[in-house]
Amino acid sequence: MLTRLIYASETTQALTPAAVQHIVDRARANNTRLHLSGLLLFDSHSFLQVLEGHRAPLSELFGRIAADPRHRRIELLEVTPVDERRFAHWSMGFAAADAAHGELFLRFGGTPQFNPYAMSAAGALGLLERLGAAQSALPAARGRAARA
Ligand SMILES: Cc1cc2nc3c(=O)[nH]c(=O)nc-3n(C[C@H](O)[C@H](O)[C@H](O)COP(=O)(O)O)c2cc1C
Repeated sequence: MLTRLIYASETTQALTPAAVQHIVDRARANNTRLHLSGLLLFDSHSFLQVLEGHRAPLSELFGRIAADPRHRRIELLEVTPVDERRFAHWSMGFAAADAAHGELFLRFGGTPQFNPYAMSAAGALGLLERLGAAQSALPAARGRAARA
């Protein structure tokens, strides 16, 4: 059963850009193998991640992610069966949730700051899709596509 999961979390320690890139690289390799797709937003403090794919591999991966000591306060925004993928182009896309997107944070989250904990599932999905679409203009930012 195709399922979508969205969660928020925060870093336990400062992560260098190289450390974040390492997470994304591992995610792309693993998610491709598990036929999972998704997108990760990060503002140097908080994460907002969407993962989609079949329920069993998605659950198995989320168990691993939730136990990762690099982040904490993992809060589920949504776990829902879906008919189709919204992020099929990315095994794991990545976008910086930087201040330049304040207008989008306001539109999808109600505040000009990036605060995934305050977002509704619909707002989070809207923001992820919007920032994902901006990334798709940059082919280098893409991971390998997951199978439908
Ligand atoms: C915010 C965050 C998001 C992550 N997302 C993924 C992911 O989508 N896929 C993945 O395999 N690992 C992800 N990880 C890393 C996992 O927690 C774990 O370290 C990794 O799956 C281990 O795989 P490896 O043994 O191949 O390195 C994420 C970690 C963090 C902190």
